[in-house]
Amino acid sequence: MLRDLSHVAGLPFLFDTDIYHCVFGPEVRDPLYGVRTDGQIRRVLRDPDAALPKIVYWMMRDTGLRDDPYLKETHGLRYDISYFIPAMFGCEHLKTSGHYHTASPDGPAYPEVYGVLSGKAIYLLQKVNSIDAPLDEVIVEDCIVVEGNPGDKVIMPPDYGHVTINPLPEPMVMANWVSSRFSSQYGAVEQARGFAYYRVEGDGGPLWVRNPRYKSAPPLRLARVREVPELGLSLDEPLYTAGIRAPERLEWLNDPAQYMELIWSGLDITGEIGTCELPEVPRSGA
Ligand SMILES: [Fe+2]
Repeated sequence: MLRDLSHVAGLPFLFDTDIYHCVFGPEVRDPLYGVRTDGQIRRVLRDPDAALPKIVYWMMRDTGLRDDPYLKETHGLRYDISYFIPAMFGCEHLKTSGHYHTASPDGPAYPEVYGVLSGKAIYLLQKVNSIDAPLDEVIVEDCIVVEGNPGDKVIMPPDYGHVTINPLPEPMVMANWVSSRFSSQYGAVEQARGFAYYRVEGDGGPLWVRNPRYKSAPPLRLARVREVPELGLSLDEPLYTAGIRAPERLEWLNDPAQYMELIWSGLDITGEIGTCELPEVPRSGA
């Protein structure tokens, strides 16, 4: 079925939910296409031997309307769309590789904002003492889970790595604005085979299972999304449109140190979620 997501994306954008294909209108600038393959994602799974689809998710980077201002050049901001198939990695829910951002000139790492266009996303955020330390020196200082539904704008705060999970048996589509002045860091996640928790499907429903490769893990905090109009983030306006209409409102993506309180006001911490420890998945051939 061809689903028209233009109203929530803010630009002409159709998504075919049967063959997982997207169609942009001719007014849209050609994005840079990228994919995440099974070999790349296997490095961060609870069960690295799980059967995987060849392509796990698609990324369409640096797009926008041809006639709109090109914010990458004028404001150092990039707009991307990504989509995810409904699938499982063994018992683990489909997810992204997970990554950290590097530090902005004034200290805090660059933040990011995701806008869910279709389906449901669960974001797992994680702060560690160092993204450069060897694994036995890594201390996980905080973990937060936040759910995003269509229209939600979900902030990834500075210094928090993030992984996106598709928890539903349907495709998920999301967009983001992010600074174009840094490259994402994947090494710290790969050396630990993921973040401190995995979201797996248990007999009685989803479970958050600890990743034993980290020495310890803090309680898993639950947050819900709040609108932050001062940062250009409201439920009713598409993320793309908000950036184009008032790019100065997105300055926090390049200069987060000035906006820490507002950035954190986008996440309403509501409590903690139960977690568990399970035996490791036996490796094939072991
Ligand atoms: Fe990111």
